[in-house]
Amino acid sequence: MSEINSQKEWRTAVTSNQDGKILIRGYNLDNLIGNKSYAEVCFLLLKGEMPTVNEAKMLDAIFVSCIDAGIATPSSVAARTVFSGGNSLNAAVAGGILTLGDAHGGAIEKSAKMFQDYIKGREDIKDEYIKETAKDMVDDALKNKKRLPGYGHKLHTVDPRTKRLLDVAGDLNFGGSYVNLAVAIADEFKVKKPERKLPLNVDGCIAAIISDMGFDYRLGKGFFIIARSCGLVGQVFEEWMREKPFRRLAPNLHEYDGMPERG
Ligand SMILES: CC(C)(COP(=O)(O)OP(=O)(O)OC[C@H]1O[C@@H](n2cnc3c(N)ncnc32)[C@H](O)[C@@H]1OP(=O)(O)O)[C@@H](O)C(=O)NCCC(=O)NCCS
Repeated sequence: MSEINSQKEWRTAVTSNQDGKILIRGYNLDNLIGNKSYAEVCFLLLKGEMPTVNEAKMLDAIFVSCIDAGIATPSSVAARTVFSGGNSLNAAVAGGILTLGDAHGGAIEKSAKMFQDYIKGREDIKDEYIKETAKDMVDDALKNKKRLPGYGHKLHTVDPRTKRLLDVAGDLNFGGSYVNLAVAIADEFKVKKPERKLPLNVDGCIAAIISDMGFDYRLGKGFFIIARSCGLVGQVFEEWMREKPFRRLAPNLHEYDGMPERG
């Protein structure tokens, strides 16, 4: 047992590494290796307990859903560009991770906070109340020109990952009140602003599911980072293998629109 009253400056209850033994939340890493999946051990590390079969499957599905989304995303462009400037794989991947903000991947945190602010502690609320809440939230967003994190998409009018994740969540019994609220908000946007196309995006969907799984909203961005790191390693490695250093934007992709020569 760790010393709860320890006065040492650096303390942790995550992992101990003593006498040649590494214990993750008390589980010997030697016994986890080869017996537990990466998603299972991530759950253990982040939540402190071993997941149930369904929790492990759900977390794994979340990781798969945001592992990569192609070369054109801000994180992929940034990671490849940092590498192209002559930097290492780790610097390039870190550069990609730094792009993860409110508009890209990072919306999970804000979206989960929004859902948890409305429902936390009242997870058994009735469907009618969820619909009312969704209506109020959308009315308020439209009236005050607020962007609700977890809605809208640059490319998709229906985010295909969301549909699939919601199906998996339903099959694994994670379609609780947070998921219901997330879907009710998207439905309300459809009614109030059909022309705007504000679907529940993958960030919002993950935010609702992790809330139903009992995770703190502050871990939201962490799930995306864990999953997308693999995608970024793949993108940067491909850049390394295929491309010459020093990428520049092609002339047809940029222009100068400032003052003409004047001095
Ligand atoms: C993802 C996102 C950047 C895509 O933006 P976009 O398709 O280029 O949309 P625009 O920024 O042009 O916005 C179009 C209109 O929809 C509104 N809108 C866009 N996203 C909105 C949201 N999440 N909630 C409420 N209104 C939203 C804008 O205010 C704008 O309204 P206006 O025409 O009255 O000015 C945007 O929807 C957003 O900021 N979403 C919230 C953050 C998020 O969930 N990011 C994760 C993406 S996977």
